[in-house]
Amino acid sequence: MRIVLLGAPGAGKGTQCKNIVVQYGLLHLSSGDILRQERAAGTELGQKAQSYMDSGGLVPDEIIIEMMTKAIKDAPSAGFLLDGFPRTVNQTVELDKSLTDNEMTIDYVLNLQVDDDTVAKRITGRRSCPKCGAIYHIEHLKPTTEDICDNDGIKLAQRPDDSPEVVINRLKTYHQQTEPLVDYYRKNGTVYDFDADRSPDEVRDSIFEKLDALVKT
Ligand code: AP5
Repeated sequence: MRIVLLGAPGAGKGTQCKNIVVQYGLLHLSSGDILRQERAAGTELGQKAQSYMDSGGLVPDEIIIEMMTKAIKDAPSAGFLLDGFPRTVNQTVELDKSLTDNEMTIDYVLNLQVDDDTVAKRITGRRSCPKCGAIYHIEHLKPTTEDICDNDGIKLAQRPDDSPEVVINRLKTYHQQTEPLVDYYRKNGTVYDFDADRSPDEVRDSIFEKLDALVKT
């Protein structure tokens, strides 16, 4: 199964990916997570990406396309779930070319729909574990002990691009450059929309229900 997960910043992509990959045995390939790992490791790629990420803009296509097509080639045969990639029409076209060269296609595109005010509140309240990547929210998804990861006892952190000012830019970038991909994929008949303005468990259940039905057909 090869899936693309689309949705605005804060729509819940990372939260739902963690559920989907466990349920269907897929590899989670998050462009944002890979970039943050490169930054933390101080690599040349991470340094190049830093200013774009911190301002809420997009990292140049040529960097991202090379990084993600390489990751996809190394994916296991069970399949993968793309989170945050593709994010521009150019990235989508290059992804399609690379998949075709390897006799693959995207089977399903899951589109998480939620309005800008809701996602802005979600993002500014997000906290995550620097060690295991677990995602929390100061109101909707609290850890058992305030500010401490349930999995490994590490102090939770706030992403540098989660400030209200940067979130405005990230949403603008999303509407201008990424939202058009929904129509691009709709032409292939592979898009499934989900109301993401519900609890994380309700969103998860609706995704599982749809994927289970699709797998059976
Ligand atoms: P990336 O890491 O991909 O960030 P994003 O797309 O902006 O998405 P987020 O991670 O902010 O949100 P999410 O949808 O995963 O939400 P989450 O589940 O965490 O990219 C970061 C940057 O890297 C980009 O700005 C760009 O610079 C660069 N980049 C990455 N990919 C690129 C590419 N392909 N091309 C160019 N540049 C690229 O949830 C958010 C919060 O809400 C959490 O606190 C969570 O607990 C809570 N929550 C989730 N679901 C619910 C719910 N149903 N109800 C209530 N709360 C919820």
